[in-house]
Amino acid sequence: MANLPFALPDIGKDEIAAVSACLDSGWLTSGRKVQEFEAAFASFVGARHAIAVNSATTGALLVLDALGVGRGTEVIVPAYTFSGPAMMAHRLGAKVVLADCEPGGYQVSSEDVHRKITERTRVVMPTHFGGLAYNMDALSDLPSHVALVDDAAHALPTLDWSTNSMVGEGRVSTATFFSFYATKCLTTGEGGMVTTNDGDLAARLRKLRLHGFDRQAFDRYTNLRTGWKYDVVAPGWKANMTDVAAALGLVQLDRLHEMHARRIRIAERYQAALADVPGITLPSEDYGHAWHLYPVQVAQRDLFVSRMGEKGVQCSVHFIPLSLHSYWRYLLPPADRDCPQAEAIYRLSLSLPIYSRMTEADAEQVVAAVRETLREIDGAAGAE
Ligand SMILES: Cc1ncc(COP(=O)(O)O)c(C=O)c1O
Repeated sequence: MANLPFALPDIGKDEIAAVSACLDSGWLTSGRKVQEFEAAFASFVGARHAIAVNSATTGALLVLDALGVGRGTEVIVPAYTFSGPAMMAHRLGAKVVLADCEPGGYQVSSEDVHRKITERTRVVMPTHFGGLAYNMDALSDLPSHVALVDDAAHALPTLDWSTNSMVGEGRVSTATFFSFYATKCLTTGEGGMVTTNDGDLAARLRKLRLHGFDRQAFDRYTNLRTGWKYDVVAPGWKANMTDVAAALGLVQLDRLHEMHARRIRIAERYQAALADVPGITLPSEDYGHAWHLYPVQVAQRDLFVSRMGEKGVQCSVHFIPLSLHSYWRYLLPPADRDCPQAEAIYRLSLSLPIYSRMTEADAEQVVAAVRETLREIDGAAGAE
């Protein structure tokens, strides 16, 4: 049986043609394609503004910077998430405060977030884990000095039932950031997008993403009379998206519903085939899930992952909690990284392959490998 990778980008002829046309066009960096992609993305999620960037991590950096995160401020992040956005808060000089998971769940506990808010808290940054919407309504009552910014790296397209809106629409959050990394539901290779309904914030983000210039490069090069003039008006970064990436993103966005439908089919197949199998806990089946990840829990996680690998099925683990990474442990005193729920769920968790290029036969290979691995592990335990 062929080896099944954990993730594969879904790139077809249309993506290749769009990138090729962009390469032929003579304009590679941020230009018309980025503007088109931003407009299409904003309209897709229902936000007023979309700002294309070169990763979700730099998207988080720009938003945190624009919201005044720095020395003397605190940013609350889930312990059970990816390190990148939290690291941006740290590198801006803020104190990173970890909030634990809700008991037995992957999502951050809103009670723990509320408990950890101080007068120095500037931003709370929940993650829509795996592509399932976080209950944003539970954080809709933050004090006025605290901004809500959601990490939607996994959540495209995702419906948030707590606010009856698309993730990214900004019903309760100030800004949302998305990832277009190679394994994500929509990919540009590397890339990201920030959405917001706040026009001033959007204008600030556009400056911050390109050196703090008052004008975007495309505008300078296409205006023949005053093209050379620009001013540095803000302490900016370099985080703009290229037109090559945006050309790819536009085709992927057009195909998003079709690709999402295939992820749903794989998830439904796993749910149906594994529901009655003892020894494995499946994710809840909520409608509106992007199904970026299909997380499951088993008792002997490490052994399970390695046995799946022997059967040609590559699995992954999301996430190693921040509280268990060397640098965060060095940075945070023990009392500040006490996250028993996150660490408990981590010990059981792994993610099965799920992506739009998977065939029915691939899904059956995963199901068979899961059943066999659980039988093997159960048999070995019984024989002890
Ligand atoms: C939850 C989460 N947030 C942010 C990121 C960072 O995304 P990027 O690689 O686009 O910076 C990731 C990456 O996998 C992620 O899983």
